Amino acid sequence: MRSVRPLGYSAAQISLHWLIAALVIFQLLLGDSMTHVVRARIRDRVVSSFDASMGTAHYWVGIAILALVCLRLALRLLVGTPKPAGGPAPLVLLARIAHWTFYVLLVAVPITGLLAYYQLGPFGDIHSLAKPIFIILIGLHAAAALFHQFFLKDGTLLRMLVPAH
Ligand code: HEM
Ligand code: HEM
Repeated sequence: MRSVRPLGYSAAQISLHWLIAALVIFQLLLGDSMTHVVRARIRDRVVSSFDASMGTAHYWVGIAILALVCLRLALRLLVGTPKPAGGPAPLVLLARIAHWTFYVLLVAVPITGLLAYYQLGPFGDIHSLAKPIFIILIGLHAAAALFHQFFLKDGTLLRMLVPAH
């Protein structure tokens, strides 16, 4: 583990941030297909070919997110993160809470998805809750990043675009 904080995020950390963000948005936009696949399986019905392929994509993209977030957490432990963006102390605390909530969701949501897929308990409903929670958190997080960048003008968004090392 690194004891000195780096000046900014590394190229690998930035790439992982945007790749995971894009994959999560894909899951949120097309997750309904997986719900149709699971319901059709229970009722012994056939699904459209679109839902069948998007259901398969949902499975593998979800697993990719789980693998990538493990890599991201390992990297975080190895290279560390820059000191929090400035601003009032309560906002810095809120940002920490939001970032850790993201990490918890990025691990827990794919796991509950797998449990739901293999019908290992009542995880379908819990997994589906991820949709509104993710949407609210992404909205707040993106708004905060834009607020930092364009109102506080402290370059926070740039830290997630331009690697420091
Ligand atoms: C971060 C990753 C993931 C996100 C954001 C996500 C998101 C979603 C969303 C938005 C839905 C639709 C919920 C609805 O119909 O309201 C859904 C359904 C579903 N997803 Fe995922 N998912 C992820 C990973 C996975 C993984 C890895 C699996 C494993 C196979 C999976 C299996 C399922 C199943 C089985 C359903 C249907 C649940 C039900 O209605 O019983 N998901 N997911
Ligand atoms: C699914 C979408 C997203 C997820 C899951 C996500 C997740 C995260 C996480 C976990 C961090 C903390 C990194 C760390 O220090 O370990 C972070 C930082 C950051 N994110 Fe996102 N993010 C998403 C979308 C976005 C969007 C849309 C924007 C911009 C509009 C954005 C801008 C940033 C910025 C600027 C930081 C750095 C904050 C800082 O240095 O304090 N993110 N993101």
